[in-house]
Amino acid sequence: MSSTTSIPVATRVHNFTYAIRNIVVEAKAVERKGLKVDYLNIGDPIPFGFKTPPALVEVVAKAMIDGANNYVPSPGIAPAREAVATEWSQRGFPVDPDRVLVTAGTSEGIELALTALANPGDGVLVPMPTYPLYTAVLAKIGADAAYYRTDPSRGWLPDVDHLESLITPRTRALVVIDPNNPTGAVYPEGLRRQLLQVADRHGLVILADEVYGDLAYDGAVPPLGSLDPDGPIVAFSSLSKAYLAPGWRTGWLAVGRSPRLDDLLAAIKKLADGRLCSNGPTQHAIAPALLGDRSHQAVFRAALGERAELTTASFNAIPGMSCVAPTGAFYAMPKVSLPPDTTDEQFIVGLLRATGVLCVYGSGFGTRPVDGFFRVVFLASPHDLTRIYGRIAEFTAEFLRT
Ligand SMILES: Cc1ncc(COP(=O)(O)O)c(C=O)c1O
Repeated sequence: MSSTTSIPVATRVHNFTYAIRNIVVEAKAVERKGLKVDYLNIGDPIPFGFKTPPALVEVVAKAMIDGANNYVPSPGIAPAREAVATEWSQRGFPVDPDRVLVTAGTSEGIELALTALANPGDGVLVPMPTYPLYTAVLAKIGADAAYYRTDPSRGWLPDVDHLESLITPRTRALVVIDPNNPTGAVYPEGLRRQLLQVADRHGLVILADEVYGDLAYDGAVPPLGSLDPDGPIVAFSSLSKAYLAPGWRTGWLAVGRSPRLDDLLAAIKKLADGRLCSNGPTQHAIAPALLGDRSHQAVFRAALGERAELTTASFNAIPGMSCVAPTGAFYAMPKVSLPPDTTDEQFIVGLLRATGVLCVYGSGFGTRPVDGFFRVVFLASPHDLTRIYGRIAEFTAEFLRT
């Protein structure tokens, strides 16, 4: 057996890109050369010292010790589904537990919903810049992403006229990420209502990504479904961000009560049956997380607000750079005025090689390579961020001089 011909892979993988992790290959090469890397590429609070609430860890550990290591019902255990329904209903988005599924993070919910909804050649509206899982999944299922502009000169808010101009008879859904990754924007109520109206006018499903809903610095954002409980909304969230347990891969989706969504719900459930269930023991933490003590969130929000201010001020002080102030989550999207014929990726790879600071180039989120945007995850301590931003400033001065 000596054949060396490589095994061909499916063409659908070619367009499946996820820059947030892809760029780590380059970082590992830099580490091998002996440079310490500051990883500002992934939105995971745990490596930066933020702690999963101990009460949730105890619930999960106890569930395992007590033998809850079996397969569970494919839509999730009843107490978890009831807690999601109760919490969303209390916040004004009336949800029935039968319309909730527990998923392997928001990510699996997004993949299930898009797979159940879009045929090859159908279109889905996604923000530009976007969280790249949406475009990766669309590439995988052969559907098309239509990027609607969000405008940095207006706090990265969606341009609703542009969005509406992209709608065709094949458009199926509108993705709304609020609070937003990668921009840190939180949308005002008037704009959220406009998005609901556009979806309603054109018969689109709204995929409401609310994974950062509790992490706006001014306090939790009401669910989009609270503004239109009968709207065609599928909402997503998880324990990853606001409950500081991203490695548990535990999230949920809820399909709004509109009967127009009944077939979609049935299709999602059918797909979910095929993967048996999501992680069992961690599902036991959902009810105590959503219905119990949330004091950790106020502390986390305050820490994020402080880092957001430091980040905005630091980037705006660097000659050749500007940064819109984030109002939620732990991301900022600064812009560097690139010299002609250079790309955001060249800037970011150059920064990594020279300083060990790893950010993600904006084109990984859908902005134009020449526009010079890049994303920073600002979960490190203010002390570390100050050091890191100092290195970015030095590198930028050098980069813009040459
Ligand atoms: C906007 C957005 N949606 C979904 C996810 C995926 O989160 P989860 O860990 O819940 O799968 C992320 C993770 O960074 C995100 O930023």
